[in-house]
Amino acid sequence: MFHISNGNPYESEQECMLVGLLDQPEKFSGKLQQLDEAFGGKLTELVKTGDISAKYKSVAVIHSLGNTPVKRFIFIGLGRKKKLTVARLREAAGKASKKLKDLRVKSFSIALDTFTTGEITAEKAAWTVSEAFTMASYEFPGYKQKSNEPKVIIDTITVFTNEDKKTIDFAVKTGWIFGTGVNRARTLVNTPSNLLRPSDLAAYAAELADEYGFEIELLDKEDIEKLGMGAFLAVNRGSGEPPYMIVLKYQGKEKWTDVLGLVGKGITFDTGGYSIKPKNGIVGMKTDMGGAASVLGAMEVIGRLRPERNVVAVIPATDNVISEKAFKPDDVITSMNGKTIEVLNTDAEGRLVLADAVTYAKMHGADRLVDVATLTGGVIIALGLDKTGAITNDEEFYQEVKEASKKAGEFIWPLPYTKKDKERVRSSKIADLNNSPGREGHAIMGGAFIGEFVGNTPWVHLDIAGTATTDKGYDLGPSGATGVMVRTLALLAIGENKQE
Ligand code: BES
Ligand code: ZN
Ligand code: ZN
Repeated sequence: MFHISNGNPYESEQECMLVGLLDQPEKFSGKLQQLDEAFGGKLTELVKTGDISAKYKSVAVIHSLGNTPVKRFIFIGLGRKKKLTVARLREAAGKASKKLKDLRVKSFSIALDTFTTGEITAEKAAWTVSEAFTMASYEFPGYKQKSNEPKVIIDTITVFTNEDKKTIDFAVKTGWIFGTGVNRARTLVNTPSNLLRPSDLAAYAAELADEYGFEIELLDKEDIEKLGMGAFLAVNRGSGEPPYMIVLKYQGKEKWTDVLGLVGKGITFDTGGYSIKPKNGIVGMKTDMGGAASVLGAMEVIGRLRPERNVVAVIPATDNVISEKAFKPDDVITSMNGKTIEVLNTDAEGRLVLADAVTYAKMHGADRLVDVATLTGGVIIALGLDKTGAITNDEEFYQEVKEASKKAGEFIWPLPYTKKDKERVRSSKIADLNNSPGREGHAIMGGAFIGEFVGNTPWVHLDIAGTATTDKGYDLGPSGATGVMVRTLALLAIGENKQE
């Protein structure tokens, strides 16, 4: 599919070559001088007339008209060298990949060394561009009857570089692994709930376990009852679909200590229950298992890269629907750790299933926890659609997550979490906790509720209600599921500082 070459990029026959342009060049010099010479200095003229530009994300397609064995060049503007970060490069590369798609090319090559700066090594550039291309070319197949339009499948990608081939080969593969983790998560989220039931999520996890040798535990309803997961069970009570508590373990260290717990909200559909959602608010609730998808996507990356780390993933999977059996507002339920909960709103179900999931992750030895959830509409009001809201009980661990998110280019922002917030979730008159203490700051209330079950374990809560999906296509993917947090979680688990 792809190969690495140490040859001269401009000398072999290629359908299309991608070239990065940094710092608006007065003339093509250094890495690009050779290319300009092949064009008899005409590229420099095109820069002067503005047909080719280093302006960030500008795209120019230039036909070589026989001047070089490469038929077409795509020049992608990377802006100022000093400002170029991995995140900026990733987006620019995503945009370039969309252009390739429009051109319907079957094969292309990359002049990798035109994407490097002092900061961004060829290795980093290779990882980033490959990750971006993998993400940007994602399409959800959907369910339409066959269309007649022929599909263009890219069969060869050649990466030209002066660097060590093996290093670059591994970096390209790593980028592909990260991008693929994201894409698989996107597909889970895009799949409607009639086709992705809790049992399907469990089966998917079992497939991952099989493929990557994870230890797997699938708790069925009976097991869940025996363990006394009353909060999780309450949400499932109205459903005809059995719940599953999905546990995947990846052991990369000799001993099962120092365990990162990844907990993902797996509500396959959220009607709101008896606190039912209005008809506009209910559409799209097939995506309420976005947290679970992020965790599964990250596990796939971990399974492929096999770091020397221990990770346990815990996913409570159920839908939240209504029947004569369903739980109701005013009900009081008992969670696995014994805390009682007054249910004031059956639509605040995510925190209920996560309460038992977090307790269970701790039972499995997790000594650091990240939960990921499409938890509240409130986070969208607070931070908009492009920022994941975070809550933590441990500043140091938060910084670690923040670092990983920066490398991944996935924006997270902390929400305050104070003693008063804790008091509010404990404000029930008849139970230990209250699942919905009112609209004020309710993104914080959601996180604070989960915090009651975390105790002193270092913990970061990530509310992805705004970021798990998007209405518009963007440089790194189409509209629909984004696969957000797959890469952040994977980088956190792997703990490598390769990407900056
Ligand atoms: N799944 C929703 C949150 C959500 C909203 C996700 C919009 C994606 C887009 C969650 O279960 C929910 O309904 N939360 C309520 C909580 C409230 C009842 C305290 C909300 O945010 O309105
Ligand atoms: Zn809900
Ligand atoms: Zn929900």
